[in-house]
Amino acid sequence: MDTDPQNLTDDSGDTGETPQGETPFSFIGGEPAVRALVDRFYDLMDLEPGYAALRASHGSDLASARDKLFLFLCGWLGGPQHYIEKYGHPRLRLRHMPFSIGIKERNQWVACMDQAMGEVGIEPQLRERLYDSFLQTADWMRNRNG
Ligand code: HEM
Repeated sequence: MDTDPQNLTDDSGDTGETPQGETPFSFIGGEPAVRALVDRFYDLMDLEPGYAALRASHGSDLASARDKLFLFLCGWLGGPQHYIEKYGHPRLRLRHMPFSIGIKERNQWVACMDQAMGEVGIEPQLRERLYDSFLQTADWMRNRNG
């Protein structure tokens, strides 16, 4: 996908927060780190009043969302493509069509992910780059005005 963050580490002119050849996936610590990030993301979504609109767009049970986001992010960060192996092409925009996603939901998703990245200790420069990539992806998911 266009906003795939591994592209950010590939070009030779890269100033390199991650050593050459290393992906964001391996840099942050592989599957246990991605799992911790996703768990914190959904815990915050459940707990923080500031993410209530985002939480409301999800069903009562976040277990399947947790699992799918984990599988997806492993590949998105340059690691194993678990999501694609299990579910095929992500078609993320299409898969989000059943949910009403506007500016508020987009902003809450990105803020929640940024808070989670901070709390699990993603290195600040990588966090900034991932923030930009998440923002682009989340913006692409918007399916209503406002
Ligand atoms: C912009 C705001 C967003 C909202 C409101 C939102 C909401 C949702 C909801 C309600 C689900 C269904 C969860 C379930 O199956 O129980 C979902 C699934 C999913 N979301 Fe999002 N999402 C957003 C952005 C994103 C972004 C930016 C990504 C990736 C970086 C992402 C990745 C996924 C994935 C991989 C799934 C599972 C898709 C499937 O296989 O059905 N979402 N999202």
